[in-house]
Amino acid sequence: MNIILLGPPGAGKGTQARHLVETRNMVQLSTGDMLREAKSSGTEMGNMVAGVMARGELVTDEIVIGLIREKLTGDTKGGFIFDGFPRTLEQADALTRLMADEGQTLDAVIEMRVDDEALVDRITARSTCAGCGEVYNDNTKPIPADGKCTSCGKENEFTRRSDDNEESLKTRLMAYYKQTSPLIGYYYAKGMLSTVNGLGEIAAVQREIANVLGD
Ligand code: AP5
Ligand code: MG
Repeated sequence: MNIILLGPPGAGKGTQARHLVETRNMVQLSTGDMLREAKSSGTEMGNMVAGVMARGELVTDEIVIGLIREKLTGDTKGGFIFDGFPRTLEQADALTRLMADEGQTLDAVIEMRVDDEALVDRITARSTCAGCGEVYNDNTKPIPADGKCTSCGKENEFTRRSDDNEESLKTRLMAYYKQTSPLIGYYYAKGMLSTVNGLGEIAAVQREIANVLGD
């Protein structure tokens, strides 16, 4: 099964994707994670996108479509979770074409709906385990007192993203409403859209997504 998690910054896409990887053996394809990896390993493309990402703007369609194209071949395990891709109509059309080329179909698009106020609180309180990518939140999922990650068990560094500040978040939200939210109508018209309440607790959102996936 191949699905898209669609939602604004901080909606919980990454958190839910990690759960689906563990419980359904799916493959998470997060263009944000791929771009951050390119940035930290200092590739030419990574250096090119660093400023754009820090400001909260979208990188070019060409770059992210190229990243996704590379990942669609090989072992698909329990299917793909597209996390943070597509983000424009052009990316959505490209994904349809790429999937068709690989003989794959897209099965569901899950919109995670969360209001803006909660997003600011979530984003400014987020940190991530540098070792395994587990996502934490100062208010709802704090780093354990012993400093060991609950997922990998190691005493790693917990990092904050350079775009997780109120200023960049405004730009990210604007980009979401202007460039990405038209995809809600796009997938609704294709009969593929389901909406879940992303404001619920993490476990409640997991259950709603499981329902959509027919578990
Ligand atoms: P990307 O990394 O995709 O960031 P984003 O879309 O802004 O989303 P986030 O990762 O910030 O949020 P999330 O929904 O994953 O939430 P999370 O689970 O972490 O993109 C970053 C940048 O890369 C973009 O701005 C752009 O520059 C570029 N980019 C990426 N893809 C691109 C594309 N396709 N095209 C062009 N440019 C692209 O949760 C957030 C916090 O909330 C955490 O602390 C978590 O613990 C907490 N939380 C989660 N769920 C709940 C819950 N139910 N209740 C309470 N707290 C919760
Ligand atoms: Mg994410």
